[in-house]
Amino acid sequence: MSRLVTVSNRVALPSQLQAAQGGLAVGLRSALEESGGIWFGWDGGVEQQIVGPRTPRVQESNGVKYATLRLSREEYDRYYLGYANQVLWPLFHYRMSFIHCDNRRLEGYWDVNRLFADHLPPLLVGDEVIWIHDYHFIPLGQLLRERGVQAPIGYFLHTPFPPWDVFRALPGHADLLAALCRYDLVGFQTAIDRDNFLDCLKHFEPRLDPPPRVETFPIGIDVDQVAREAQRGYNSQQGRRLQQSLRDRRLMIGVDRLDYSKGLGNRFESYEALLEGHSEHRGDVVFLQIAPVSRGDVPEYEEIRHHLEYLAGHINGRYAEYDWIPLRYLNRGFHRSNILGFLARSDVGLVTPMRDGMNLVAKEFVAAQDPGNPGALVLSRFAGAAHELEGAVLVNPYNVDEMVAAMHQALTMPLNERRERWQQMIEALRQQDIHRWRSDFLEALHDAHRARTSEAL
Ligand code: G6P
Repeated sequence: MSRLVTVSNRVALPSQLQAAQGGLAVGLRSALEESGGIWFGWDGGVEQQIVGPRTPRVQESNGVKYATLRLSREEYDRYYLGYANQVLWPLFHYRMSFIHCDNRRLEGYWDVNRLFADHLPPLLVGDEVIWIHDYHFIPLGQLLRERGVQAPIGYFLHTPFPPWDVFRALPGHADLLAALCRYDLVGFQTAIDRDNFLDCLKHFEPRLDPPPRVETFPIGIDVDQVAREAQRGYNSQQGRRLQQSLRDRRLMIGVDRLDYSKGLGNRFESYEALLEGHSEHRGDVVFLQIAPVSRGDVPEYEEIRHHLEYLAGHINGRYAEYDWIPLRYLNRGFHRSNILGFLARSDVGLVTPMRDGMNLVAKEFVAAQDPGNPGALVLSRFAGAAHELEGAVLVNPYNVDEMVAAMHQALTMPLNERRERWQQMIEALRQQDIHRWRSDFLEALHDAHRARTSEAL
């Protein structure tokens, strides 16, 4: 078996594995352990200035090497805060007015990709397969090829990929498309993202030959592991305290990074409209929104935070009673098993992003439910997960009335309907779980590489 080398901006270091067993970590760790692989990326630290030659810090755990580099303040500003999170992220989420780009950011992005491309080859000994993740590292495959790396190199985009007419507004888009074409395999979450990319290739001159293999690989979860952790969280002290605090009230829950793509403003406004239009829910429902602060140094994230604080205060000010608070809004994270326990104790899951690559919270909500009495899921049509979870109450988050109707439907859904819908969703999750995601991608990558190298002979 080839050694798996994964590259992603964030690396789930062994010390953080317990707390951060989310998506990628769960999906990749066992393959990394089985193959004695490497996980390469940023260590999450920033230094004012980096003096002298830089070498990756390598830690080993269960046969896996975790190799990480630190960034200088300038690199962090231009690459991470700049081009990755104020150019690519808003553009890939169809929020063009949030793009702030200049050449320094564009160059900083390529410089950091070059830095990573310089430091990866010395860690390779041969017979590796390299899997690069997400929008931070689009050029990395090409840069590795330029440095003589012959291994299969695949790329998976965790976010959406926009249509051509949006994509072409991206400063530097031609170079990024050319870079994507240097991979053996390019993977997307959904058919819409894949088709958008293929359409971009049609418009792109000069045509690239041979084009990479392009496929969809919807990321999943480890259903049994999530169900087990949810059970643990359900029975934990925090799980029980949550229940006690609710008394007999029903719980609606949202768990999202505090990001404008997640549609939290529309969700809060819709909740207010629900309380206004359906007075029977007043005093009977609690909406718990967990939203840990994310990318707080980017102005749009600061703005959304202020806006949500205003809305939360407004809703509670308008509707709270001396013995009931309608909205509990928490700007902090929790241990994963607590979150899953909270999902397990909820009657309704609200996952209503304006645009999302997949959204694993939607999948975790389903896996965390009690099969005998499952909660209902309200899910945005613009989350990748909506392509698989037909049993959810699908909603257009841009339409407040539709959101209100969906929340009301979910809160009043009879048990047999909840069971039927849940059954469809759990089957979909089992069919396309995280292990299948990983093995499908790696198998396709090996095939694509074989096909490309035999074509080149
Ligand atoms: C999204 C991205 C990931 C990213 C995560 C957290 O899920 O697809 O690549 O790691 O957000 O964002 P952060 O900027 O904190 O890494």
